[in-house]
Amino acid sequence: MKRHHFLLSVATGLFALTAACSAQQPPPASSAQTKPGIAAPHLALWGDLKPVVSVKELMRDMLDPASDFIFDSVSTVTSKKGVVETFPRNDKDWEKVRFGAVTLAEGVYLLKIPRPFAPPGDNNNSDGPEPLEASPAEIQAKLERDPVLWNAKIEALRNVGLEVLEIVKKKDVDALWGAADDLDEACETCHLEYWYPGQKALLMKADKQLRGLYAGEKSKKLGMAPK
Ligand code: HEC
Repeated sequence: MKRHHFLLSVATGLFALTAACSAQQPPPASSAQTKPGIAAPHLALWGDLKPVVSVKELMRDMLDPASDFIFDSVSTVTSKKGVVETFPRNDKDWEKVRFGAVTLAEGVYLLKIPRPFAPPGDNNNSDGPEPLEASPAEIQAKLERDPVLWNAKIEALRNVGLEVLEIVKKKDVDALWGAADDLDEACETCHLEYWYPGQKALLMKADKQLRGLYAGEKSKKLGMAPK
């Protein structure tokens, strides 16, 4: 029953969104302006988009593994045996980075399809007085209050995907390091907003204290370390 309400609110939200969007949309382009060969230019999509999994599962099974192609592509590990540097050395290595970039840039748009945030019965780590994670219902409510913010986070991750695609074309190892940082940030800023917002407050406090301690020094980014 609870789930029923949840889906209903997703549907209502979608309807409100669609209504708002179509109200703002300009009328379909006149046939004089349309490209030859495109029969129905006013159709935004070729067909329906139907979700298969929750946001949580999409993260676990698609966006997270895709990001590892990028995170794992560059590293420096210092051990007793010396320094081991990892970076793309040949076409096969760069191909993997491209798999990651394309899957992220295209796949992140699947977050625009209304879908449950977690599987049925999974309430995240949201119990207790200071829960680590927001519940699926809380995440849903936040999104409905401000869908523009959700979309901005999606675009931010998509932009990193596009950035990495350019890097792959140029085989620019130096730039790949920076892109891995950008990727970490794109994931984390969305998570801090929606998934574990309690930590955002904590991080801001810690960051402020660090800045106080190391005034003048560049404060280090406090994100989720890539695996
Ligand atoms: C637009 C927002 C957004 C972006 C961008 C985003 N995530 Fe998420 N992610 C979420 C939300 C919301 C959840 C929590 C869903 C839930 O548990 O209800 C989540 C959960 C997760 C989880 C937990 C899955 C599980 O099984 O518990 C992982 C792992 C994850 N994200 C990885 C990533 C990585 C890696 C990136 C970047 C490549 C990323 N996410 C980008 C919103 C986002």
